[in-house]
Amino acid sequence: MAAAVPTITLNNGVEIPQLGFGVYQVPPEKTAETVTTALEVGYRHIDTAEMYGNEKGVGEAVARSGIDRGEIFVTSKLNNGFHRRDDALRAFDQTLADLGFDYLDLFLIHWPLPGIDVDFVETWKALEEIYAGGRCKAIGVSNFQAHHLRRLFDETEIKPAVNQIEVHPFLAQDDLRAFNGEHEIITEAWSPIAQGKVLDDPAIVAIAERLGRTPAQVVLRWHIERGDVVFPKSSSRERMAENFALFDFELETGDLAMLTGLDRGERTGPDPDRFNYIP
Ligand SMILES: NC(=O)c1ccc[n+]([C@@H]2O[C@H](COP(=O)([O-])OP(=O)(O)OC[C@H]3O[C@@H](n4cnc5c(N)ncnc54)[C@H](OP(=O)(O)O)[C@@H]3O)[C@@H](O)[C@H]2O)c1
Repeated sequence: MAAAVPTITLNNGVEIPQLGFGVYQVPPEKTAETVTTALEVGYRHIDTAEMYGNEKGVGEAVARSGIDRGEIFVTSKLNNGFHRRDDALRAFDQTLADLGFDYLDLFLIHWPLPGIDVDFVETWKALEEIYAGGRCKAIGVSNFQAHHLRRLFDETEIKPAVNQIEVHPFLAQDDLRAFNGEHEIITEAWSPIAQGKVLDDPAIVAIAERLGRTPAQVVLRWHIERGDVVFPKSSSRERMAENFALFDFELETGDLAMLTGLDRGERTGPDPDRFNYIP
């Protein structure tokens, strides 16, 4: 039996499992089956988004699983076209309806969209209203830089519980992670294995061979030991199980620093300061 997944306490007292399962690029028609497999493997934290088009499949798998809703932590995200207050409130209702839930664990602004005509501060105030209404246990942001967060600290009431950003050994993000930490915001690391791109790196392969683990396990363990939340995606039961087996080994002295030293500022996704895409 796999060792238990630790939880991290968010700044409002809510507990989040440190390891979850991400469903970006899981086709809507395959999502219920894929998430069912992930739940069978042992995952109890699912990261979805309205943008992924697969919230219904996530909700279906949770309902079918027979597992108590309270034992599964589900995150979703506000899509880019819904930043105005009224649109955000409606989009949250739609997310709950699509998931078939009466509450959500964590709701995020997916992107700050600094170039559009709606200020993300207005959007954050809408999330504060949603939180006050009690149908969402925690609220947070995704792809926010320090300067975006500073505006929220200055102009709104509630600090985000998490900031979900791209992090992997080729984009270690230590400055932004430290900034999040100073403000009691948990860093969630998206694309934690850089969609597979880091797995052939010779330094990572060498550590994996020495520890008798796979490169994916080494990289995911690096995230865990740094204290971030991760949710790798996989379409295969074997790789889901591989990515879940992170709590019965540790990196050795020097490995953490060596992996962080691979940082080359390389993004797999868009730069949040330039990304203004609306689907
Ligand atoms: N907030 C945001 O803007 C944002 C952006 C991107 C992602 N995310 C979140 O982060 C989650 C994870 O990121 P991601 O899906 O982009 O990338 P990822 O988890 O870093 O990588 C997924 C890719 O790696 C492969 N893979 C998974 N496990 C593997 C293993 N053990 N060995 C070899 N290959 C493996 C998968 O292929 P197979 O499926 O074939 O196994 C898939 O192609 C997403 O699902 C989503 O929830 C958020």
